[in-house]
Amino acid sequence: MTVANYNLKYPHAMKPLRIEGTIPSQLRGTLYRAGPGLIERFGKSVHPFLADGAITSVEISSQAKGACRMVETDKYLQEEACGRTLYDTNAPLLNRVKNALMRNIKNTGNTHILPWQNRFFALMEAGKPVEFDPQTLETIGTTNLDMIQGAFSAHPHRVERLKTTFNFGIRGQYIDLFSLPDIGHAKRITTFKAPWASLIHDFMMTDKHAIFFISPSKLVVWRAVLGLKDFSKYFSWDAQGSTFIIVVPLNSPDKLCQFEVDAFHVWHFANAYEDGEDIIVDACRHDDIGTLGNPIETTANDTEPAFWRFRIKPKNKQLLGEEVWSIPCEFPMVNPQLLGSKHRYAWVQTYKDKTGNGGFARIDTETQEIQRWYAPDHHQISEPLFVSKGQKEEEGWVLQLTQDLTHEKSYLAIIDSQKMDEQPVAKLWFDQAIPMTFHGVFIKDSSA
Ligand SMILES: [Fe+2]
Repeated sequence: MTVANYNLKYPHAMKPLRIEGTIPSQLRGTLYRAGPGLIERFGKSVHPFLADGAITSVEISSQAKGACRMVETDKYLQEEACGRTLYDTNAPLLNRVKNALMRNIKNTGNTHILPWQNRFFALMEAGKPVEFDPQTLETIGTTNLDMIQGAFSAHPHRVERLKTTFNFGIRGQYIDLFSLPDIGHAKRITTFKAPWASLIHDFMMTDKHAIFFISPSKLVVWRAVLGLKDFSKYFSWDAQGSTFIIVVPLNSPDKLCQFEVDAFHVWHFANAYEDGEDIIVDACRHDDIGTLGNPIETTANDTEPAFWRFRIKPKNKQLLGEEVWSIPCEFPMVNPQLLGSKHRYAWVQTYKDKTGNGGFARIDTETQEIQRWYAPDHHQISEPLFVSKGQKEEEGWVLQLTQDLTHEKSYLAIIDSQKMDEQPVAKLWFDQAIPMTFHGVFIKDSSA
C-alpha cells in the first residue's frame, strides 16, 4: 500500500484549530505525538526511522489549539547551518564511517514522548531523552537524567500501581533497566547481557517484573560500522535462531529468568500483568522483522502481525501463546489506568484489507469480540490513542491524528469508544498536513 507522507512545512506554536463537531465536555488535556518531521531533506529522501523528529501537540478544552515543531538538537541545527547532511545514511561515506566508529549518532527524538515529573522528553531508541517545553514545543536540550550511560529506549512503560515509569536502554549487547518514580530520582535498576546485539524496540512491565522478548534480529556490525546507506540491512533475521524470553524480578533484579523459544518478533506490546505465578503478556506478534522497509509504504513492516496472548511460566521456563485476532494489526494499547495490571480490552491500529480501509479495532480478550472503526477513503491514520472517560474500562475516546490526503490537511479525530459505528464526535483541523507520527501520550488536565 503506497501512501503519502509529508515534510513539516510550517512549524508553529500553539494556535487555534478549526473545530468540526463538538468537543466532549469531559475530554480535557493535551495530546503530544512524535514522528519523523522531514522525510525529505537537502534534496534526498530519508528513511522515516532516521528522519529528524517533529512534535505535534493538540490542546483540548472548550476550544482547540495545535502546535507542531521540529526537534532541534545540536546536530540538527549544525546540519541546518551548513545546509547538508552530516549524520545519517545520506551523509558522505567518510562521515558515516567516522560517526559509526565514534558512536556519533544524531538524536532525532522522532519516536515517542515521555512525560515525567512535569517535564517532557522526545525519545528515540538510540539516543538520550531530548527535553522540550510542553507549551511552546521548543527544544531545551538532551539530558542523561543524571543516570543514563548509553541509550534510552523510546518505549517507556508506566506501572500505575507503583507510580513509576520504567524504561530500558541498549549499550551494545548490554541492556540497562531504569526506573523513573513520580517522586524522587530516576535510577538504573540493573544491567544484564543480552544473547546478542538485537533489535529490541519495546519491552513490558508488571508491578513485579520487567519482560523482554529478544528475537534473532541481529545487528550486522560491519554494515553499521561502515555506515552503509541502506539502513534496512543493518539487522538480519536469523531464521534458525531463537527468541530469548528474559524476565527480570524487580525485587531481585540479578536473579533473572531466561529461556529460548522458537523465533518470532514483537515490535509493540499492549500490556502485561501477573496471574498467580504466571505472567500474561498481550502483544502484536510478527513471524520475523520483515524488510525493515519504509513503514509508511508497507503494511506493518511487510509481515502480518496478529494479536496474541502469551503466558509466561517463569518457574517452568515456558512460554505459551495463542492468537487472539488474526487480522493484521499493530500499535496496541490498553486503558492507561490499567498498565501493569489486568485488562480486558486492547486497542490496535488496523490496515486496509478486503473488508475496508485501515482504522482501528477494539479487541475483547475475554470473548474475542472485535469492534472495528474504518477511516474514510483517502484518509491516512496512525496509532489510535485511547483516553479513558470513567468507571468502565472501555469507556472513553480514541484520538486519531489523521491526514486528509485529498485536501492535504490533518485533523485530530475524537471518536467515542462506545460508538465506533459512528463518525467522530469532533475533528480538530490544522491548516496544513502534519507529518506522520509513531507514538504519543495524552495528558489529562488535573482539573478534568
Ligand atoms: Fe514503537
